[in-house]
Amino acid sequence: MSFNIAIDGPAGAGKSTIAKKIAAKLSYIYVDTGAMYRAMALYFLRLGLDAGDREGMAAACGGADISIRYVNGEQNVLLNEENVTPYIRSEEVGKMASQSSPIPQVREKLTQLQKDLAAREDVVMDGRDIGTCVLPGAQVKIYLTASTHTRALRRFRELEEKGLKESLEEIEADIADRDYRDMHRDISPLRQAEDAWYLDTSDMGIDEVVAAILNRVEQVRER
Ligand code: DC
Repeated sequence: MSFNIAIDGPAGAGKSTIAKKIAAKLSYIYVDTGAMYRAMALYFLRLGLDAGDREGMAAACGGADISIRYVNGEQNVLLNEENVTPYIRSEEVGKMASQSSPIPQVREKLTQLQKDLAAREDVVMDGRDIGTCVLPGAQVKIYLTASTHTRALRRFRELEEKGLKESLEEIEADIADRDYRDMHRDISPLRQAEDAWYLDTSDMGIDEVVAAILNRVEQVRER
């Protein structure tokens, strides 16, 4: 049976950085499910669909074939065979992903892909509904969070490093909006699974968080 680690939490909590390091340390596969929702959002944007057009998106999502491939241990997301990894990190795509991810047809499609992967491989999977819906049987579940301001600052610096200039206030407002949508949607809202370990990383360094989670994994594996 494969060993599954589920990491959920709001945007900018550090999920992907932490999950990648844990996966590398354990030689597990890292699965970034947000990237899959972003690839779907890019598909809708390219079709010229409006963020409020839920019916249009539900009808169109059948035309998007999303898959993932690993190149030198890095996840690449393919949209109808095109590697769209370089195009999915913008704020525009993130915003659209937050609007399109509640659509049932979108979730069903991507959830199945995620479940299949985790059944075959040892994975560290991050997202919003991994511990609650996608992998309810995961051996280790973590709910990773940090204050809204800390998360906005982290995103701001990340974008700055990529040469993108956005205002901190706007990023913070966007994060608050996105949190609200992710936590209040009807299907698979972001929430802590009952058996997940709550970790607030506002005042923790990356290595400290990674060590704490690895310690947890070790304890579970020794049982
Ligand atoms: O983690 P991220 O910013 O890349 O996620 C983009 C959007 O996708 C986010 O608004 C929530 C959504 N998402 C989701 O609904 N379920 C997941 N498992 C992962 C992401």
